[in-house]
Amino acid sequence: MHRIVFLGPPGAGKGTQALVLARELGIPHLSTGDLLRAAVAAKTPLGHEADGYMRSGRLVPDGLVLGILGERLESADAREGFILDGFPRNLAQAETLERRTQLDRVISFEIPAEELVRRLSARRVCPLCQSVYNLVSRPPRTPGRCDRDGAELLQRPDDRPEAVATRLEVYSVQTAPLLEFYRRKGLLRALDASGVPDEVTRHLRSLLG
Ligand code: AP5
Repeated sequence: MHRIVFLGPPGAGKGTQALVLARELGIPHLSTGDLLRAAVAAKTPLGHEADGYMRSGRLVPDGLVLGILGERLESADAREGFILDGFPRNLAQAETLERRTQLDRVISFEIPAEELVRRLSARRVCPLCQSVYNLVSRPPRTPGRCDRDGAELLQRPDDRPEAVATRLEVYSVQTAPLLEFYRRKGLLRALDASGVPDEVTRHLRSLLG
């Protein structure tokens, strides 16, 4: 069974790798960031509440995140496995997850901080289909336009430098302690996430095989 958590700092490539691996393994990619951004775009009350936290790079309160993830984790397509990307992000979330399901692997995406800042400042996203690009490593065919639907690509509000600094700080204070939490349980595997995407995918497959 593949019940997998991707743990790593912002910009480490978790979403990029989760898309590839979830397709290969036939399991859902559950990203709390994507679920929250969809709620913000749909202007739901939860999205309205989450928006300010996300823009500034702080964690959204646990109750809101669990509200949005809970049902999805228990849905039929997640019974055979899942890739959790962006959850858990603090010890309280990890303990809640432990009460709900058993995990098979936790992958720690490891990468130098300067590379994270480079990747995040060059990330652009499509507001219609959510495709993710990078001005350096994955540029669109037509500058500034999505390859799939031609929409104008945007920068995520939390990819601006002030929010990036907060996100890196939040990661090291609140999320990084989970590495030890999962290491002690024997679930943690380290992934060198600094190479080109295909190299990282190959290494990831070997850790999950
Ligand atoms: P979330 O969306 O989860 O953001 P994150 O963890 O900060 O991760 P990112 O999406 O920034 O990066 P990634 O690792 O997925 O990198 P990507 O593959 O895109 O969360 C956003 C916010 O939501 C949080 O700050 C918080 O407010 C809230 N939130 C979410 N979950 C929460 C929770 N559980 N509790 C509380 N709050 C929560 O790649 C980055 C860029 O690099 C892209 O441009 C990509 O094309 C490029 N790239 C990828 N791989 C490579 C490579 N190997 N080489 C070169 N470029 C690459």
